[in-house]
Amino acid sequence: MSIVIITGAAGLIGSEAVEYYAEKNYKVIGIDNNMRELFFGEEGSTIWNRDRLSKKFKRYYEHHDIDIRNNEAVNKLFEKYKSDISLIIHTAAQPSHDWAAKDPIMDFTVNANGTLHLLEAMRKYSPEAVFLFTSTNKVYGDTPNQLPLVERETRWEIDPEHDYQNGIPESLSVDQNMHSLFGASKLSADILVQEYGRYFNLKTACFRGGVLSGARQSGVKLHGFINYLMRCVMTNTPYTIIGYKGKQVRDVIHSTDVISAFDAFFEKPRTGGEVYNLGGGRESNISMVEAINASQEISGNKLSTSYDENARAGDHIWYISDLDKFKNHFPDWKQKYNVRKIMEEIYETNKNRWINKEIVKR
Ligand SMILES: NC(=O)c1ccc[n+]([C@@H]2O[C@H](COP(=O)([O-])OP(=O)(O)OC[C@H]3O[C@@H](n4cnc5c(N)ncnc54)[C@H](O)[C@@H]3O)[C@@H](O)[C@H]2O)c1
Repeated sequence: MSIVIITGAAGLIGSEAVEYYAEKNYKVIGIDNNMRELFFGEEGSTIWNRDRLSKKFKRYYEHHDIDIRNNEAVNKLFEKYKSDISLIIHTAAQPSHDWAAKDPIMDFTVNANGTLHLLEAMRKYSPEAVFLFTSTNKVYGDTPNQLPLVERETRWEIDPEHDYQNGIPESLSVDQNMHSLFGASKLSADILVQEYGRYFNLKTACFRGGVLSGARQSGVKLHGFINYLMRCVMTNTPYTIIGYKGKQVRDVIHSTDVISAFDAFFEKPRTGGEVYNLGGGRESNISMVEAINASQEISGNKLSTSYDENARAGDHIWYISDLDKFKNHFPDWKQKYNVRKIMEEIYETNKNRWINKEIVKR
C-alpha cells in the first residue's frame, strides 16, 4: 500500500489532503498534536476535525499525535514505513504573522526546525517520495508594498502600467525587507525545502500561499481572515479593520484547489526545488472593504466594525499571486472556486452551528 504522510492533518489544508488521498484509497498517516489550540485558544482547536477524519476513514486513516519538533518521533515514523511512503504534505505550522512575535523561539522551532526534521527523515528513509511544503507569500516580506499602487474606491490596485498586472511572480526578491518573525521562520523552511530539492536532488516543492480558505477552517482573530470574518458577521461579533483604510487586497484560494494543485505536482513531480506562488490570483481576490460588503450580502446581517489605523508591521497592502508558472508547468490544473463562492460555502456549511452560537464546542 502506498503511504501519504500529512502533517497538520487536522488543520484546514491538512484535513483536505487527508480527505483527498483517503478517498483515493491511499493509506494516510496524519500528524497533528492540536498545537493550534495552544496558539489561539479553544476556538482554534482542531480536535473536532481529527475525530471526524478518524471516524470517516477508519480503514485508511491513522492519526499520530506527534509534535514535529520531536525529531526522534518523526524519525521513528519514517523508519517504520520507509520506501512505502510516496508523498509527504507538510502543512503543520505556527501560521500567524502576529502570533510569532509572542514567542519567536516556539514559532521558529515549529516552522523551521520541524520542517528540517521532516526533510531529513525523508532523505534518510524515503528519498523517492515527493515532499510538498505549504509556504507563504510572507516570504517576500513587505517588498510588495514598494510596488506602485493606486487607490481606488474600495481597494488598492497595482499601477495599470506595471508588469505585475497578473500578480506577483516567484522572481520577486525575498531579501532585505521586513518579514515579521513568522515570515522569517517560514522563509527559513522554504529555503531548506528548496535546498533538499537542489542539493540532494529530491522531489521537493514550495507552494507560497496567498489566503488559503475553506469551510472547515478553525478561523480565529489572528489567522484565517475570510473564515473569521464570516463567523463574525454570522454571530454578531464586532470586527476590527486594521490599517490601509480597509482597502488592502488579498487573493483567496479554496483548500480543494490547493490540494488539486498538490496532486498535479505529485502526479508529475520535478526535482530541483521548485517554488510556486499559489493563491486565488486574478480570478479570486478581494479587499477588506469588499469582503465586508460581501459577507453582509451573503448573511443578510450587518457587521459592526471599528477601525485601527495602525497597520500591522510588514503587512501587505496589495498581494495577488501570479499563477502563470504553476499553470505553465501543469496546464490541466483549474481553479474551481472564487472568493465569493468560498464565502457562500462557509456560510452554508456553518450557518446552523454559528448562527445558534454553538461555536465553541464543535
Ligand atoms: N491559511 C492560510 O491562509 C495560509 C496562507 C499561507 C500559508 N499557509 C500555510 O499553510 C499551512 C496550513 O495552513 P492551515 O490554514 O491549514 O493551518 P491550520 O492551523 O489550520 O493547520 C495546521 C495544523 O498543524 C498543527 N500543528 C501545529 N504545530 C504543530 C506541531 N508542532 N506538530 C504537529 N502539528 C502541529 C495544528 O494543530 C493545526 O491543526 C501552514 O503551514 C501555513 O503557514 C496558510
